[in-house]
Amino acid sequence: MTFFPGAVLGLESSCDETSAALFESGRVVTNVVSSQAALHEKWGGVVPEAAARAHVEAIVPVLQEALQGRRPDAVAVTNRPGLVGALSVGVSAAKALAMLWELPLIAVHHIEGHILSVLAEAPDVAFPHLCLVVSGGHTEIVEVLEPGRYRLLGQTVDDAAGEAFDKGARLFGLGYPGGKAIQDAAAQGNPARYRLPRATTSDPLDLSFSGLKTAVLRLVEKEGPALSVPDAAASLQAAIVDALAQRVLHALDRHPYAGLSLVGGVAANQALRTRLAKEAERRGLPFWVPSPGLCTDNAAMVAVAGSVRLARGERSGFDFDCEAASPLPGQIT
Ligand code: KG4
Ligand code: ZN
Repeated sequence: MTFFPGAVLGLESSCDETSAALFESGRVVTNVVSSQAALHEKWGGVVPEAAARAHVEAIVPVLQEALQGRRPDAVAVTNRPGLVGALSVGVSAAKALAMLWELPLIAVHHIEGHILSVLAEAPDVAFPHLCLVVSGGHTEIVEVLEPGRYRLLGQTVDDAAGEAFDKGARLFGLGYPGGKAIQDAAAQGNPARYRLPRATTSDPLDLSFSGLKTAVLRLVEKEGPALSVPDAAASLQAAIVDALAQRVLHALDRHPYAGLSLVGGVAANQALRTRLAKEAERRGLPFWVPSPGLCTDNAAMVAVAGSVRLARGERSGFDFDCEAASPLPGQIT
C-alpha cells in the first residue's frame, strides 16, 4: 500500500469518542481515545449536545497527547457521517492546525476509515476483498475493489448490529455501551437457553435486527426476575453473530474474493471474530480484523484512510462542511 510520505495527524469526533492519532511510515505511532461513555450512560445513549460540549473539553488534551510535541506533515479529519455538532469540533481543530502549519488537509468518511483500518496492521491486504462493516450506526457488506472503490452488496434494513447489542444490553440492565457488556455477560451464559429469531430479508445480503429487538423485549417481559442475564446475553450474541455470518458466507459463495475483513466497533466482539476467522479458514481465505482498539472509533483509522488519499494527491480545501448522512465515497454499482 502506498501511504503519504510523512506523519499524518488523524482527528475523529463523529460520535462519543474524541480521538487524535499519528500515522507514519505505515505504522500507528500514537492513537489517543477519550471516551464519553460514562457521560452518556445515565441517558442510555448519546445526547448530541452533550457530546459536542465534551469534545470541546477533550480535543486539546487529546491532541497534545497524540502529537507529543511534534508537528505532523498532513492532517486528516472525519467530516461525515455523524453528529454535526460533534464532527464540527474535530473539523474546526483540523482546519485551524492545517492553516497555521500550512499542511495538506483531507476530509475522511467515517466508514471508509473503518474499512481501511485493517491497513494499520496489515498493509499487504489483498483486493478485491469482502468487508463486513459493523458499528453502532452501520451494518454493511461491502466489496472493497481497492481503497476508494467500493460496491455496497447489502445492509441492514432497520437497526445496526451495534444497536441490537446496545438495546439488548439496556433491556438486560447491563448499561451503555452494551456490546462489551453483552460479550462479558455472555462468557458465563448458555447461548442455546433462549430461542431468538434470525430474521430473513427479501435480499439475501441484507439484514434486519428490529424483530430481534422485539423478541428480546418479549423475553424480558415473559421471564421477569427469572431471566438469566448471562444466558440471555449469550443467546442474543449468538443470534447477531449467526445473522451476520450467514450473510457473509452467502456473499463469499457468490463471488471469489482475495479475503475477508471485519471492521467497526462490533468487530471488537470476540465471538464474531472467532466465527468469521473459522469460516475464512475453512475456505482457505485470509482474514483481516484490526485489534479491538482499532475497531471501536479511533483516529488512527482516519489517519490511515487520509494517508491513502493524500498519497494519491487528493486534498480538501478549507470550505468543506460536516454531514450527518453521507454515502460511502467511490461507490460503484
Ligand atoms: O464503530 P463504533 O465505535 O461507533 C460507531 O461508529 O457507531 O461502534 C460502536 C458500537 C456500539 O454499538 C458498541 O456496543 C459496539 O460497537 N461494540 C461491541 C463491542 N465493543 C463495541 N459490540 C459487541 N461486542 C463488543 N466487544
Ligand atoms: Zn464508527
